Amino acid sequence: MPQWNPDFETGHPTIDTEHQEFLHQLEMLKVAIDAGAGREKVVDLIVVLQRYVLGHFAREEAHMLRVGCPSHGANCAAHREFSHKFDRWLELLTYSGTPVSLLLEVHRESLAWITHHIQKVDCGLRACPAHGSVPVSPRADEVRKS
Ligand SMILES: [Fe+2]
Repeated sequence: MPQWNPDFETGHPTIDTEHQEFLHQLEMLKVAIDAGAGREKVVDLIVVLQRYVLGHFAREEAHMLRVGCPSHGANCAAHREFSHKFDRWLELLTYSGTPVSLLLEVHRESLAWITHHIQKVDCGLRACPAHGSVPVSPRADEVRKS
């Protein structure tokens, strides 16, 4: 997992925490793959990751819209594109008999995407100086319960 560093900070504590959770879940996926986890376990981890990431995307997009972030449009487009990858990966693993080793690719691609995306798109929030004091809603824990 890449070391969390100031280049990843958007300036909003909730969004930054959610990005760290995204990276943590990717790390858990890698640990499971390295430990030789079976297909079912790996599919479960991807479903959990997908659910978390989609919730995060929705919260972040709403926040950017609320604070008038200039990166909002680019962020939504990038999120839509990445979201489709989950369905494709799950389809491959569930219906096509694709080897679990595909998951190494899922991990590699997701990690590359999120670290690039945070720095090039999400950090556009820095252009909205007051955004860090605007709450992100609904909160992550509220979304997880639903
Ligand atoms: Fe984003």
